[in-house]
Amino acid sequence: MPADSSLNHALKQTTVTVRPAKAVRGVIRIPGDKSISHRYAMLAAIAEGTSRFHNFSAALDCASTLDCVAKLGAEWTRHEGENGGEGGVIEVRGVGPVLSPPQTPLDCGNSGSTMRMLSGILAGQPFSVELRGDESLSRRPMARIITPLFEMGAKISSTEGGRPPLKIQGGSLRSIHYKPEVASAQVKSCVLFAGLFAEGETVVEEPLRTRDHGEIALRAFGAEVERKGNMSQIAGGQRLRAIEAHVPGDLSSAAFFLCAAALFPGSQITLPGILMNPTRARLLDILLQMGLNVSVAHLEEQHGELVGTIEARGAGWKGAVITGADTAALIDEIPVLAAVAPYSDDGLEVRDGKELRVKESDRIAAVATNLRKMGAEVEERDDGMRIPGRQHLHGAELDSFGDHRIAMAFAVAALRAEGETIIRGSDAAGVSYPAFFEALRSVAGS
Ligand code: S3P
Repeated sequence: MPADSSLNHALKQTTVTVRPAKAVRGVIRIPGDKSISHRYAMLAAIAEGTSRFHNFSAALDCASTLDCVAKLGAEWTRHEGENGGEGGVIEVRGVGPVLSPPQTPLDCGNSGSTMRMLSGILAGQPFSVELRGDESLSRRPMARIITPLFEMGAKISSTEGGRPPLKIQGGSLRSIHYKPEVASAQVKSCVLFAGLFAEGETVVEEPLRTRDHGEIALRAFGAEVERKGNMSQIAGGQRLRAIEAHVPGDLSSAAFFLCAAALFPGSQITLPGILMNPTRARLLDILLQMGLNVSVAHLEEQHGELVGTIEARGAGWKGAVITGADTAALIDEIPVLAAVAPYSDDGLEVRDGKELRVKESDRIAAVATNLRKMGAEVEERDDGMRIPGRQHLHGAELDSFGDHRIAMAFAVAALRAEGETIIRGSDAAGVSYPAFFEALRSVAGS
C-alpha cells in the first residue's frame, strides 16, 4: 500500500496510513472462512472424537468461539499451519452431546455468530450459562434467537430489548416449525443446532435463502438434514462424529481484494482455494456485472462446500442496484462495494438493507460518514444508501467505528483517493482478518 501501522498509545488505538496505489497485483492466500470455522468448532465440541481443521480462520471472532467451547469442556490446540501465522491446524477434542458447565460466563467478544449459534447448543444442555460480549455485541439484537429457543423450552433472560448478556437455562427441548421474520443464517443455524437436542423434527422455514454452512457442516459431522424449498429440517437425538476438514478461503475477505482490483484497469489478482458456496458467491455475479473480469478455475467439493481459484482483472467499473434477496446475500460485502462505489461509472444503490444498521456497527451510517469525509456525496436512507458514481475522493482521517469490515473497506477506497488516508481503530480488522493490512500492502503497487 503503501501503508504504515502505528500504535497510538494515547488513544490505545492502532492507526493505519494508506497511500494511493496504481494497481493491485499478485497471489493472495485468504484465511479460512469465518462462518464455516465457527460452525466446525461448535459441532466438533459436541461430536465424538477429535476433529482436525486445516486453514481454520485466524479471525478473533473464531478465537472467541474456541475459547467458549474450551470453557465448556472441549479443549483445543493450534498447530502451525500452511499459512504460517494465519490460521493453521486446529484440533478440537469433542466431548459428545453433553458439555461441562462453565465456571465463569462465556465471553463472545465481538462475535454475534458465537453468541447466536452457540446459544442453540446451550439451550439443550442440562445447566445454566451466561453469555457476554463487548460493547458492540452488547448492543446487538438477540430476540431473534431468544424467541425460537424459548418456544423450544429453554429459559433465556437478557437485558432490555433482548440485548446481551444472555442467561440460558438449558434442558430438554421440543421441536418447532420456526419461520424467522429476518433472513438470518445465524438464526437458522442456532435453531437447527438446538434441534439436535429436541424431541422430534425441527424445521426452519426462512423468508429468503441464507447461507447454508450450518446444514452442510451438520451433514459433514454425520447428521441428516433435509432441505425442501426454503425449509431446513433436522431430527433430534442424532450423534455427531469428529471430522478432519480443510476450511476454504473466506470469500467475504476475498471481496476486499476483488474490489481493490476493480479500481485499477491494470490489476490482476489470483486467489486460490476460495469458498464458492452458491449462497455466498452472488458477489462474483455482481462484480462481473459491474465490469470486473472474474473467472473461477479448479472447482472442487470439500466436505460439501464448493471451492475454487478466483482470477480477477480490473477492466471497467460500472454501477449496480442491490435489492431484496441480493442485499441479504451480499450483506457482508456491501460495506466494501459501497466504499468503492464513488469510483464507478454509475454509482451504487442499496435497498432492503435494514440489517446493515445492526451489524458490528451501523454500517449505513459508518459508510456515509467516512465517504463524506473523503469528499463524496452520499444519500443515506433508512434501509440503504445511494452513492453517485464518477466522484473524486481525497484522503482523510477516518474511523473504523470498531468494525472490521469498515476498517478494511476504507483501506481499499483509500487506494484510489488523492493523498493519504488514516484509519483509526484499524486493529478492528483482526475480528475477521488479522493479517489484512500486510496482505493489502503486498499486492498494492504505487
Ligand atoms: C453469518 C451470517 C450473516 C453475516 C455474518 C455471518 C453466518 O449474519 O452477516 O457475518 O456465519 O451465519 P445474519 O445471519 O445475521 O444475517
